[in-house]
Amino acid sequence: MPIGVMDSGVGGLSVLKHIHAQLPHEHVHYVADSAHAPYGNKSAAEIQARCFDVADFLLAQSVKALVVACNTATAAAIAAMRERYALPIIGMEPAVKPAAAATKNGVIGVLATVGTLKSAQFAALLDSYGQHVTVVTQGCVGLVECIERGELDTPATKALLQQYTAPLLAAGADTIVLGCTHYPFVKAAIQAIVGNHITLIDTGDAVANQLKRQLTAKNWLTASSAKATIQFWTNSPSENASIVTEQLWGKPIDVHRIHL
Ligand code: DGL
Repeated sequence: MPIGVMDSGVGGLSVLKHIHAQLPHEHVHYVADSAHAPYGNKSAAEIQARCFDVADFLLAQSVKALVVACNTATAAAIAAMRERYALPIIGMEPAVKPAAAATKNGVIGVLATVGTLKSAQFAALLDSYGQHVTVVTQGCVGLVECIERGELDTPATKALLQQYTAPLLAAGADTIVLGCTHYPFVKAAIQAIVGNHITLIDTGDAVANQLKRQLTAKNWLTASSAKATIQFWTNSPSENASIVTEQLWGKPIDVHRIHL
């Protein structure tokens, strides 16, 4: 049985890279809800409705576990999803905990969607792990849209990155959390702007670890040593969706269109 991976769009591919590296024999079915991206400015109720739609599609394909490869969707919908579905659901949250452990000067920055930053889950995360450090947050309006278009290094994208990292640098952050799964795709551009002395942290690898732990505990990992297939579904209205998907995935990938 395949693993289901979902995101508001192509961002979850940054997580899928870690999943595929750690579990190279596991088949994956990925859904990009790009027609409804970004989630970052939607209400929690809207995001929940989107997540149910996407998860229903994946469950109909008999996935054995579901990875919500989206910080915004996790914050808004994972509790409701766990109530509705019986399979293991792995979510993600901005890497405040590892950043608080990594910072040398006690100042960390968090780049995320507005939805993530204003969620109760993020407030709880700060309560748990942000008490002994200064946390500076920045909502990145418009950045997900650039990445959905495959614009990783254009002047417009760089201008947004400059704008959004400036307050973090001004506050003295030495560690910056990439709190949205789209952002690892502009990690090189961010590093070029902030300099190599700033540590950038994301959670793709930790999520893949957690998935592997859960499947191992249940003895649900495949016994097959055949190479896994990755099936990618998108409802993107853009003609370029396949090109952008392959650009971000870095090699050929089966892209199917759906109407969700
Ligand atoms: N990839 C997303 C996240 O991790 C969501 C971005 C969005 O759709 O606004 O938060």
